[in-house]
Amino acid sequence: MVRMVLDADIRKGKISKNIYGHFSEHLGRCIYEGIWVGKDSPIPNTDGIRNDVIEALKAMKIPVLRWPGGCFADEYHWMDGIGPYDKRPEMINTHWGGVTENNHFGTHEFMRLCELIGAEPYICGNVGSGTVKEMQQWVEYITFDGKSPMADLRRANGREEPWKLTYFGVGNENWGCGGNMRPEYYADEYRRYATYIRNFGGNKIYKIACGANSGDYRWTEVLMREAGKMMDGLSLHYYTVPGDWNTKGSAVDFDDTKWFDTLKKTLFMEELVTRHSVIMDQNDPEKRVGLIVDEWGTWYDVEPGTNPGFLYQQNTLRDALVAGINLNIFNNHCDRVKMANIAQTINVLQAVILTEGEKMLLTPTYHVFHMYQVHQDADLLSMTLENEEYRFGNEAIPQVSASASVDQDGKIHISICNLSHDSDVDIDCELRGATASKVSGTILTAQAMNAHNTFDSPENIKPAAFGGASLKDGRLSVQMPSKSVVVLTVE
Ligand code: AHR
Repeated sequence: MVRMVLDADIRKGKISKNIYGHFSEHLGRCIYEGIWVGKDSPIPNTDGIRNDVIEALKAMKIPVLRWPGGCFADEYHWMDGIGPYDKRPEMINTHWGGVTENNHFGTHEFMRLCELIGAEPYICGNVGSGTVKEMQQWVEYITFDGKSPMADLRRANGREEPWKLTYFGVGNENWGCGGNMRPEYYADEYRRYATYIRNFGGNKIYKIACGANSGDYRWTEVLMREAGKMMDGLSLHYYTVPGDWNTKGSAVDFDDTKWFDTLKKTLFMEELVTRHSVIMDQNDPEKRVGLIVDEWGTWYDVEPGTNPGFLYQQNTLRDALVAGINLNIFNNHCDRVKMANIAQTINVLQAVILTEGEKMLLTPTYHVFHMYQVHQDADLLSMTLENEEYRFGNEAIPQVSASASVDQDGKIHISICNLSHDSDVDIDCELRGATASKVSGTILTAQAMNAHNTFDSPENIKPAAFGGASLKDGRLSVQMPSKSVVVLTVE
């Protein structure tokens, strides 16, 4: 039995809706095919962007979208992606399969995508191979409302009004693919580049510095010390890789050992967020600078027969658990985590959508984001858990992961994951500070650990009404099957 105490009247801060953000890179079939099919495509589209994808992302309430990379960002020269298509130069996407990038999806197309899906754009600029001038001009092109060379160029390309752009990243993984820099060097580069990112008119840029790779705490120490005052956010990248990079295995064909290892690895996010936050607290006790987890998710072997550089992987119930656990971690750390972006929206890594020609399917990860959308901009509630252990071999991890919030209408939402691959769990929850009379819920689960959706059977695994929760004398009882994700609404 897991015991939970939920203090419905103790609010611990707002869960930024941007924790439910996404990341789309020029990588494999994420942008091309997944999002962009071009205006002349037989696949129904709006201005070249797939209608089925627009509808699905809107329904999931995608709040913010990071683009154009990833490693691609530090090779991308934005001026190649504006103007008439036949005049846009081609480039080689050296990071991702060495394919030719025709630059048909550029700034205008990305901003249009964001408009269509109702997401805020988060653009990542090029520090590794770009110039300060190039970055400065990109922001001017997008946001300046007066007369200037860049604003005039934007108008010549068909966009009169400036766009609103809040989130701007100053480079990506500059400790690796973004230039192999040392933190001291990058901190200075950050200060230089960030100086020229201007706020025009009413547009205020939230500047995000490149943060650490996983547990590289020294990177965070140096960045906060040397450049903390000039940034609004500092990123963190951590991927859930079962085994190691050589033994991560198939997305679909795995056993209970890999199941356990995947969830153990994903729980490391809790430690990472905690430790990076402690370092940030030293320089920024008021928590002005947000921790921006702008790349996270599972990374497995690519699907057999697909281009290794395209990072195309299927998505199962295991990924749903990974999503639910990480989103609970981010919710519970919403005092510091102000945005997170799962990698990557479509056809790449832990995608929420897969496409094949005109066909599209929603993955188990999509369903978790859809179920958890109730937490967006809600207030986190205080919760204590007396957990059970999920034992496997000689190892143990907590069996239950949970977070709870109260929305503007006073409804309480509790998201709970049962991590065990074979044990059900009973949860006894004492509700303090509220009188509840009604509970309803949705569950995502399946018989098989590797349940997933295919183009022939796209609804193998999808959310269903949950009947395992009841209220009695101010207590909430929940009976959850093994390997399940549940979201409850308590009124
Ligand atoms: O998401 C795939 C890649 O992983 C990104 O391009 C890079 O930032 C990270 O290493």
